[in-house]
Amino acid sequence: RVSAFAPNPPNRNVQVKSKHVLSTRLFATVEKDEAAVDAPDHMPELRDIAPTIDPKSSNTAFLRYMSDHAFSVANNAKYWNERAQSLLSWEHYPFTSENCEGVVTGGFEYGDVAWFSGAKLNVCYNAIDRHVQNGKADQVAMIWEGDEPGQVLKFTYSDMLRRVSEIANALKSQGVKKGDVVTIYMPMIPQLPMTILACARIGAVHSVVFAGFSSEALSARISASKSKFVVTTDNGVRGGKTIPLKKIVDDAIERNDCKDIVKNVMVFERERSIASDAVTADPSAMNWISDRDVNMNDLLPKQRPYCTPETMDAEDELFILYTSGSTGQPKGLVHTTGGYSLYAAHTIQTTFDLQPNDVFACVADCGWITGHTYVVYAPLLSGSTTVLFESTPLYPDAGRYWDMVERHKISLFYTAPTAIRSLVRFGDDIPKKYDLSSLRILGSVGEPINPAAWQWYYETVGQERCTVVDTYWQTETGGHIVTNIPGVTPMKPGSCTLPLYGIDLVVLDPMTGEAIEGNDVEGVLAIRSPWPGIARTCLGDHARYLSTYLRPYPGYYFTGDAVYRDKDGFYFITGRVDDVLNVSGHRIGTAEVESALVKHPSVAQAAVVGRPHPIKGEAIIAYATPTESNTEDEEELVKELRLLVRSEIGPFASPDVICVTPSLPMTRSGKIMRRVLRKISAGEADQLGDVSTLADPGVVDVLIELMEKQA
Ligand code: PRX
Repeated sequence: RVSAFAPNPPNRNVQVKSKHVLSTRLFATVEKDEAAVDAPDHMPELRDIAPTIDPKSSNTAFLRYMSDHAFSVANNAKYWNERAQSLLSWEHYPFTSENCEGVVTGGFEYGDVAWFSGAKLNVCYNAIDRHVQNGKADQVAMIWEGDEPGQVLKFTYSDMLRRVSEIANALKSQGVKKGDVVTIYMPMIPQLPMTILACARIGAVHSVVFAGFSSEALSARISASKSKFVVTTDNGVRGGKTIPLKKIVDDAIERNDCKDIVKNVMVFERERSIASDAVTADPSAMNWISDRDVNMNDLLPKQRPYCTPETMDAEDELFILYTSGSTGQPKGLVHTTGGYSLYAAHTIQTTFDLQPNDVFACVADCGWITGHTYVVYAPLLSGSTTVLFESTPLYPDAGRYWDMVERHKISLFYTAPTAIRSLVRFGDDIPKKYDLSSLRILGSVGEPINPAAWQWYYETVGQERCTVVDTYWQTETGGHIVTNIPGVTPMKPGSCTLPLYGIDLVVLDPMTGEAIEGNDVEGVLAIRSPWPGIARTCLGDHARYLSTYLRPYPGYYFTGDAVYRDKDGFYFITGRVDDVLNVSGHRIGTAEVESALVKHPSVAQAAVVGRPHPIKGEAIIAYATPTESNTEDEEELVKELRLLVRSEIGPFASPDVICVTPSLPMTRSGKIMRRVLRKISAGEADQLGDVSTLADPGVVDVLIELMEKQA
């Protein structure tokens, strides 16, 4: 069983000081609502073991949270106006403490939300220059831990200013201008965050594509964003393996319409970027295209190491980040300058109680939102030290994280449950070998954390001394929206607990769209009013933004997640209600995998579902029906299909099981009954429920038999 509470270090962060009414909403109880949601019920056991929280015995910090939260929601503009002034340096800020009219405009009806419009700032200036000017020039801003242990580089804030300026000037020398989209396809070397910040410095919009995506996926993202510029490296190295990134970029540009779009590919040589004595790579080994490719390592020494930051409007676009949705096409979510950076700084300082002398290690890749917000922007905007980790938790062995904690004296550590689960298997002795006394707070992100993983993280890694924060958020939210706060709100294992300040969280009845009041209720998770970090649109497709997030439940932002609010008012995420899977903390649209599968000439139809997996959270189970003319051997077909998914999306989306079946469970109106496939995949064929609407009920037995063979 999971122990109830850990000592919570006090949160030194100052929240809004005001006297206002205590919210009792959290502890009201009503009869259990019957709203059932068709979501995978992965974590029922969490609810059973969750300790009860008695509000009467709660500490004053918790009571204060409730009143501060209620105030922040009731006075949204006033609250964020105060945060904006205290957390960021603005070149021009047209609002005052007395007058916050216009701090937020627009709303969820048209999705025209704007925060601080008219205010001016540069995010890179906020992340670097102001710290250099305020006595932190020599403080380490970034520690790079390379793929091999002990391969370490440290950059002070003044190093960052020089390096980022050089890259910014190099980008300018290649014609990158304010508003241009720059695609970044790079491994986790220091030049990745530096290029991100260089874009922010000159007002270019970065579009980072995770370097695990295939050439086709990269090509689709370059094409959709009409990005003329691509920044990459010759190679990436991870877990001792070399990945030819420049080659993948070359292939990507050959696909779709990218040849006509991409004018310039800027290439860092990985070795020369991390070691000053490295030998220059042979250009012929890199398939150099002389009128398109530019060697960044040759270009940088020519640049002035200072670049004036561009003045940006708060609502100017800062970056695009593609994420999976319920259609085959990934969505390019757009985040803007002022609101996103404020939200990044605000959330890291609240959730992680971040202090300037903290060493913050978020071990996510910068290709995902977690890396954008909590490797790059949030820690640097807060003037602390961020760790950039190039390797994997298991390289060269399962002690890698803890070795790193000891060597860098990491105080705040942030990873995903999937990584924790992969380490639990190796036992307690490994973390016990290291000095983990520097750790103060441990974060979890990306999926619900199961009891065994939570307990191990809390007891073995955190030595029952560190707070575990379970942070729930999404690419769309920019930063944490639901999480416990160290020293303020209690931990409840398996629950992301309670909304952060300024987040007006609601549980909606999925059928009626009505807000469900009271506790011990289930529904879908939504937010009632805008917060600064919300993504503003889907690039080039605002209609999709509206139909995905704002139209399903008018008046609310819809997260796509199902939720249970327990008897104490604490939130448990129970799974996505759309067809999005969460595999090792990576969001994968089943439709994307299906589109890849049906590209095979021998596949007539495909359906993809998730099933619980002990390490990855969810495994990808694919069903494919061959065309009538197919003559291919089944084993061969499965092999080809697996390769196809790898080349269309990337190795991380490769299905765990591909089942070739003569037919799929279809309704008479021609819809695939995924519920049936999910149950069969999970080995729960005895719980299929009503299958009377199936056009051919006989398919069920065929599928059960096929699945049993796979096991
Ligand atoms: O389903 C939720 C799950 O991850 C989804 C967001 O995925 P993505 O945009 O890739 O961002 C991942 C990192 C923020 C959510 O809709 N999720 C994220 N954090 C949690 C979570 N589910 C449960 N608990 C969490 N702490």
